[in-house]
Amino acid sequence: MARIIAVANQKGGVGKTTTAINLAASFAAANLNTLLVDCDPQSNSTSGLGLAKDAERNSTYKVLIGECDAISALQPTALDHLFILPAHKNLIGVNFELVDAENREFRLRNALVPLRERFNFIVIDCPPALDLLTLNSLVGADAVLIPMQAEYFALEGISELLDTIERIRTALNPSLEIEGVVLTMFDERTNLAQQVTAELKRFFGEKVFATTIPRNVRLAEAPSHGKPVILYDDRSRGAESYVNLAKEIIAKHMPGFDAFAEPVQTSEQVAEGEEKQVVNAPRWRRWRDRNKLITMDLKG
Ligand SMILES: Nc1ncnc2c1ncn2[C@@H]1O[C@H](COP(=O)(O)OP(=O)(O)OP(=O)(O)O)[C@@H](O)[C@H]1O
Ligand SMILES: [Mg+2]
Repeated sequence: MARIIAVANQKGGVGKTTTAINLAASFAAANLNTLLVDCDPQSNSTSGLGLAKDAERNSTYKVLIGECDAISALQPTALDHLFILPAHKNLIGVNFELVDAENREFRLRNALVPLRERFNFIVIDCPPALDLLTLNSLVGADAVLIPMQAEYFALEGISELLDTIERIRTALNPSLEIEGVVLTMFDERTNLAQQVTAELKRFFGEKVFATTIPRNVRLAEAPSHGKPVILYDDRSRGAESYVNLAKEIIAKHMPGFDAFAEPVQTSEQVAEGEEKQVVNAPRWRRWRDRNKLITMDLKG
């Protein structure tokens, strides 16, 4: 059964999409079957994984309004174990079209039911608003992961998000957990970053991930190449930090699973042709080859 993690923060530009794409890709790189659900009309996760804009393609919009099922909307990506449920800007219409609809907050939750058994992790990228799309994401999720920048007023916007989480727990999804808070675009050298981190730890305690995501230009460049950073520059600090975040989450929910351990590389594993998909690939290739899972036949 998949663990469904919604990446949410109503503040814009805090690293939700960067986190959703690269966390999902890091799970997939550990051979865990992973689905990224783009629940933001900006569709940055969709374009960030190299999918062209296409209003006709099955997407989160069509799934949420009941025009298609989620399985028929899945798209493969350059990573064997990573699939995406893409978005299009028409997704914004859900906020209006479903206003009076029955079960309007449960649309995504219900749509994901048949996918739960096919994936280990489902990661949902939310829009920067506490709207019906974020509500659907939080009602459909097991846990919310909150990316935050280490800014002085970091906690102010968060109280509104925490209120929303509390209301959802009371009325719609009692088992919603906080997966954790991850500091993004982090510069540990500044006093401000240290102070905000200390304050967040007082507030969230153990829920603050040990891993922080540094400001790293490779993370900002990768989406323009339609790739997660692990396929763009797997030696960058950005790639390494998201692998570490994935490891923290995997260790919590799948104790004993050690997919990133590096085996001895044999000559067969450096077979010709493998370079095609993967830029700067040796470590990534070793992770992937370690235990090849059965590739899912999603349509079958
Ligand atoms: N760790 C990082 N290092 C450098 N640039 C980053 C990092 N994280 C995110 N960015 C850049 O910051 C910008 C905002 O990031 P992102 O799109 O992930 O935020 P978001 O919360 O999804 O935004 P929105 O609220 O609009 O959906 C993007 O240009 C992204 O490439
Ligand atoms: Mg985004």
